[in-house]
Amino acid sequence: MITNSEDRFKKIIAHCKEYGFIFQSSEIYDGLSAVYDYGQNGVELKNNIRDYWWKSMVQYHENIIGLDAAIFMHPDVWKASGHVDAFNDPLIDNKDSKKRYRADVLIEDHLAKLDEKIAKEVARAAERFGDSFDEQMFCQTNPRVQANRKKIEEINARFVPAMEQGLLGELKALIEELEIACPVSGSRNWTDVRQFNLMFSTQMGSASDGASLVYLRPETAQGIFVNYLNVQKTGRKKLPFGIAQVGKAFRNEIVARQFIFRMREFEQMEMQYFIRPGQENEWFDYWKDMRMRWHLSLGIPQEMFRMHEHDKLAHYAKAAVDIEFMFPFGFKEIEGVHSRTDYDLGAHQKVSGKKLQYFDPDINESYVPYVVETSIGLDRMFLAVISHALKEETLEDGSQRMVMNISPALAPVKVAVLPLVKKDGLPEKGREIFDKLKYDFHCQYEEKDAIGRRYRRQDAIGTPYCITIDHESLENDTVTIRKRDTMQQERIPTDKIASVVRKRIEIKPL
Ligand code: GAP
Repeated sequence: MITNSEDRFKKIIAHCKEYGFIFQSSEIYDGLSAVYDYGQNGVELKNNIRDYWWKSMVQYHENIIGLDAAIFMHPDVWKASGHVDAFNDPLIDNKDSKKRYRADVLIEDHLAKLDEKIAKEVARAAERFGDSFDEQMFCQTNPRVQANRKKIEEINARFVPAMEQGLLGELKALIEELEIACPVSGSRNWTDVRQFNLMFSTQMGSASDGASLVYLRPETAQGIFVNYLNVQKTGRKKLPFGIAQVGKAFRNEIVARQFIFRMREFEQMEMQYFIRPGQENEWFDYWKDMRMRWHLSLGIPQEMFRMHEHDKLAHYAKAAVDIEFMFPFGFKEIEGVHSRTDYDLGAHQKVSGKKLQYFDPDINESYVPYVVETSIGLDRMFLAVISHALKEETLEDGSQRMVMNISPALAPVKVAVLPLVKKDGLPEKGREIFDKLKYDFHCQYEEKDAIGRRYRRQDAIGTPYCITIDHESLENDTVTIRKRDTMQQERIPTDKIASVVRKRIEIKPL
């Protein structure tokens, strides 16, 4: 059985490799840290998530249109956007273990431990007092809870401004005063805190003709900002309207860990929604709600998600909320919804010297639009889907199976076509069915091994339907269709397979 969360996470990673979902990049050279490749099943699942997001944004909203901007952009884009100056993480090294950490993460982990202490205290009291337990009253009067709350407040009173104003000495002082030790060496022998810019850079053009410095984009959003007027004018769009884009982004993360959760090369699905200034709160709430409904439409239960309002805002944001998902290592950000005001368009207008105003015919005024963005990591979404879906089940006969209860719409393979035995004309009949179905769905044909083993292999990659061809199929042109989750089978005519499967793999938008 998959037991504690660490074991569970290890099993998920091993499963991803064993079943061709994810491989470490350049594995034969011992891998490249925080870079991953998607295998034959991974690429299908990733494509399906991307397609569903694209449909939900571009197809289901008349006023959202797509874009595919280049990864390289003019270097001034990143000066204007604030990424050259402000896209930094504070970095600190432990002199004994030589391990590198994000100073803010060390302090946040310390705060999380204090939160945990409070939660434990509350849980113990709830058990002791039963139904009569009043949590609010308990927290207001219990001296240990009060003391820990006070500590958290005092730390935050210094931590938040230190992060906002880049006070690196203050961060180091906090780490020392809180006696935070290196998790590897256990020592408190720290270097000073330094700023570390997360953008990768390279040279464009040859050195002889004066190559220029270019960056690999750290977010896809800027491609949308600099194209907003092109799209608005050629698409004849009125505000409010949105531009959606999916593409690679690159960040030289200091601490890259937790598999595909934090990568150095990853994919984002972003949508910038251009609105009239003054309407940002209304649209911020609208998109928070829409995005949460999108997640729930995939059949993942509500309790796996929560909203987290930001205390520390990114350099561009007026308000921001994270949609967090319960990963095997706890609740972590999967998507951000940000109210970016006219920060980006205003900055591009200033640095480029080009007008980026929109003429609003409804109020007869020109202005720089405000923006509300939704930004989700495709790889994080992949990890969320797979880590929620993968289950180890004990069957009635005592045997075990690994099954991925993934939404049928996202499953890498929709239908497996399996002749019961490899003789008596069943493979030929199976091939005939496969050759017709492959134009409708991504299917797999398999005749090797006993049927039970073939079912298990399909369960492990989340195939929602297995079609089995048996001797009766030759007599009356019927097959059995087996459902992955219940393992129940029903007999249907072969000419009904496509319509039965199609009906069951649709996602109903919420
Ligand atoms: N344009 C806004 C923006 O980029 P962000 O919160 O920095 O905001 C948005 O990133 C999303 O991108 C995150 O919620 C996360 O899902 C994903 N993401 C960010 N950094 C990542 C990384 N290093 N590896 C994988 N996904 C990442």
